[in-house]
Amino acid sequence: MRGIEENKKILIIKQEKPMRTHKCGEINLQQLDQTVTICGWVHRRRDHGGVIFIDLRDRAGLVQVVFDPDLPDMFSIAEHVRSEYVLQISGIVRARPEGTTNKNMHSGDIEILAKSIVVLNESETPPFPIESDIEVNEELRLRYRYLDLRKVAMQEKMRVRRDVTRILRNYLDDNDFFEIETPYLTKATPEGARDYIVPSRTHENSFFALPQSPQLYKQMLMIAGFDRYYQVVRCFRDEDLRADRQPEFTQLDIETSFMNENEIMNVMEEMIRQLFDKVINVQLDSVFPRMTYAESMSRFGVDRPDLRIPLELVDIGEDMKAVDFKVFSAPANDPKGRVVAMRVPNGGDLSRKDIDDLTKFVSIYGAKGLAYIKVNDLNAGIDGLQSPIVKFAPAEVWASVLAKTNAQNGDLIFFGADKTSIVNEAMGALRVKLGHDLNLIQGDWKPVWVIDFPMFDWDEKAGRFNAIHHPFTAPSCSVEDLKSNPATALSRAYDLVLNGTEVGGGSIRINRPSMQQTVFEILGIGEEEAREKFGFLLDALKYGAPPHGGLAFGLDRLVMLMTGSSSIRDVIAFPKTQSAACPLVSAPAVVTDEQLKELGIRLIKPAGKEKP
Ligand code: AMO
Ligand code: AMP
Repeated sequence: MRGIEENKKILIIKQEKPMRTHKCGEINLQQLDQTVTICGWVHRRRDHGGVIFIDLRDRAGLVQVVFDPDLPDMFSIAEHVRSEYVLQISGIVRARPEGTTNKNMHSGDIEILAKSIVVLNESETPPFPIESDIEVNEELRLRYRYLDLRKVAMQEKMRVRRDVTRILRNYLDDNDFFEIETPYLTKATPEGARDYIVPSRTHENSFFALPQSPQLYKQMLMIAGFDRYYQVVRCFRDEDLRADRQPEFTQLDIETSFMNENEIMNVMEEMIRQLFDKVINVQLDSVFPRMTYAESMSRFGVDRPDLRIPLELVDIGEDMKAVDFKVFSAPANDPKGRVVAMRVPNGGDLSRKDIDDLTKFVSIYGAKGLAYIKVNDLNAGIDGLQSPIVKFAPAEVWASVLAKTNAQNGDLIFFGADKTSIVNEAMGALRVKLGHDLNLIQGDWKPVWVIDFPMFDWDEKAGRFNAIHHPFTAPSCSVEDLKSNPATALSRAYDLVLNGTEVGGGSIRINRPSMQQTVFEILGIGEEEAREKFGFLLDALKYGAPPHGGLAFGLDRLVMLMTGSSSIRDVIAFPKTQSAACPLVSAPAVVTDEQLKELGIRLIKPAGKEKP
């Protein structure tokens, strides 16, 4: 075999010509009989007694190369290459013999008869095969992410991501939005998560915070008169991770002046419609439905309803107030309680074991049980119902429940009764689970704007109000009304929900210092603390802050949905693990004593030499 040094010499001589004339996956019958030069990775090599086939892979896809033994030098190199070697091959494009074409490959009608081969680099055996559909432990995938990203499926996801950003940018540029960057080294920006903090060397005992979002900068850009702003921006949140959350993620962040919420929602949904049309050829509704938060919670138990699932929660508290079953009557009579029924069409087929498993499932959300009724025969009255709880209430009660849920023979009705928050969480999650498990999903894409959120929710444990969106969101009422009824005040916030995932959210903002002060007060942020944390905002609001509002989309989540990925990590080139670490570069890592000293930091538990 020709050594790698010798190959390098050949490469240098050849460099007068372009290194390659075509991309592997682009070649087809159009190049028939032409001599082409391609570069790429060995995807597969097959020895067919006397003939060698190599599938060479690059960003554009695969092409099959054939080596005949009549050029022994070249053949001997081909015999020795291994998976993931990097090759430069020149050869003649010829039609594949009949019966050997591959309709699944763009280059499947042709093959390249090799005339020369150069090994540009060798490769050790990769730790896993570069095949999209072979399951590999995720930690390993992330440790060798550069190999994982070579997979066709991953390249395709990255391509969609690139297209998504490009089309969103084009739309916003065409609509007169102004792209501006805002700082990453900044001060805490409250979006409900913990901050990532960065020590300052030049300011002793002081820390920057990485932004949870550019919220206050974009508001100040409106005060500065930029009118329409956007940014594709990294946000940092130290929070518990899930399949659709990352500690650093990308927002398409947007802010506008002199637009009301309807105008903002209209411009944004048109952007999302164009995005889906152009990138994945999907035509979304011409008008996205709008649903109040109250309706969403009542019908679906969540503020991000998956409208593809045709199951609903139905309030039956009124029916249960007087029944002889404490589990139902107590929450029915408690203003903070809720009793609901959820009809599952044809759910009568669920077995005892299925129901036991579902009971375990809802217990994760704090539900103490999962009562049910199987509707065997509507005409037989109470005798047609099969359930451990029928005995607890008279026939009229069940007749009313059956009518409210529109039950049919063969259906099953589940019940949830507890504090409202537990019922909503447990039954909301059960609804989604059943929708998937029982294949009840209807339609592919169901966007919905959720509007009229409450301003605050009451944190029982801390004994104070929290902002539901963020503290800069405008209420739909006056300062006086907000002060007298904070618990029931609604905000001018809106979330865009797609198939049960919150893909974006925003609001009209407060643009007067008096209203901003009032909200801080209700949130228990005293005047002094407000000045210290947000004095710059309160000042800025004094200098002619225009009416303004905007929103931010979770770009990773959008791409996750558009590529049908089950995890947000699959659409981020270098994501963090569930425990917020990067196995590729081994971050986070310990720092040297000198660095700590320079920063004036002493560790409570000095790390020694071991990794954290
Ligand atoms: P919010 O906090 O709702 O609003 O964030 C906007 C959108 O960002 C996405 N998102 C995330 N994606 C991945 N990982 C995370 N940890 C994560 N957290 C949020 C969601 C969400 O809808 N400043 C406001 C926006 C505004 O009012 O204009 C904000 O950040 O898709
Ligand atoms: P029990 O009388 O505790 O055996 O409960 C009778 C039925 O009610 C069982 O099917 C339980 O799963 C169900 N159940 C118990 N607590 C609740 C609850 N909080 N919400 C809904 N169903 C419940």
